Amino acid sequence: MRYFIGNWKMFGIPKSINILNKINYFYSKDKNRQKYRVIITPPYTLIETYAKHFKNKRISIGSQNCYQKDQFSSNTAAVSPFMIKKVGAKYTLVGHSDNRSEGDTNEMLKNKVLFSLKNNLKVVFCIGENQTQKKNKKTFSVLKNQLTKVLDKKFNKNNIIVAYEPIWSIGTGKIPTKKELEKTTIYIKQVLTSIFRKKSPAVLYGGSVDSSNVEMFKEIREIDGFLIGGASKSSKKFIDIIKNYYR
Ligand code: PGA
Repeated sequence: MRYFIGNWKMFGIPKSINILNKINYFYSKDKNRQKYRVIITPPYTLIETYAKHFKNKRISIGSQNCYQKDQFSSNTAAVSPFMIKKVGAKYTLVGHSDNRSEGDTNEMLKNKVLFSLKNNLKVVFCIGENQTQKKNKKTFSVLKNQLTKVLDKKFNKNNIIVAYEPIWSIGTGKIPTKKELEKTTIYIKQVLTSIFRKKSPAVLYGGSVDSSNVEMFKEIREIDGFLIGGASKSSKKFIDIIKNYYR
């Protein structure tokens, strides 16, 4: 199974659903549709209406983050996995670099994963090194640390997807070389296999994915799909990524 996940970040109002209607139309007619899933993570404000609208359609809705507690609490502006699940989301991102840079620690992320899984949300766990870490050849140790400090053998690996997003690549147009990315993805899968003592969960790539560079990414067999930011806000750009992937 391949995954095309669109992360809208701080984008979208109710009528932006038109973008998703177009993607859903393409998806429902695509001859390759059995080979992949499309998941979109709009902001919290739109999850309920979008999830209702796409309930019996092909697109799944997820959230971009969640609070590290189970149900209800007294944390102002916090939204728990329980609340997200109850309005129809099926997935949640956890550990996006935007949220890590705003203070998410490994301990917080572990609770986010734990309570998301407990509430039957599938988790897309994001990891990635920054520019300095890459320059200092620390990529593998950073990734290993991010994975082993949060993921646990007792978590159900079938409900976890890992998204590798080098921070220097997010929204910059810069992407890793094919060789580099192949090595890194294989390494991530090795670490995951040793954590779960089972076949690795799916590993996605994210960072400046578009319809022209997806041709290179598709040659890397180990990559199970993509987390797409900027290009997911346009139905054409998002559909072109899928088309070019299967071309
Ligand atoms: P980008 O974002 O595709 O705009 O680089 C990816 C992400 O942050 O998930």
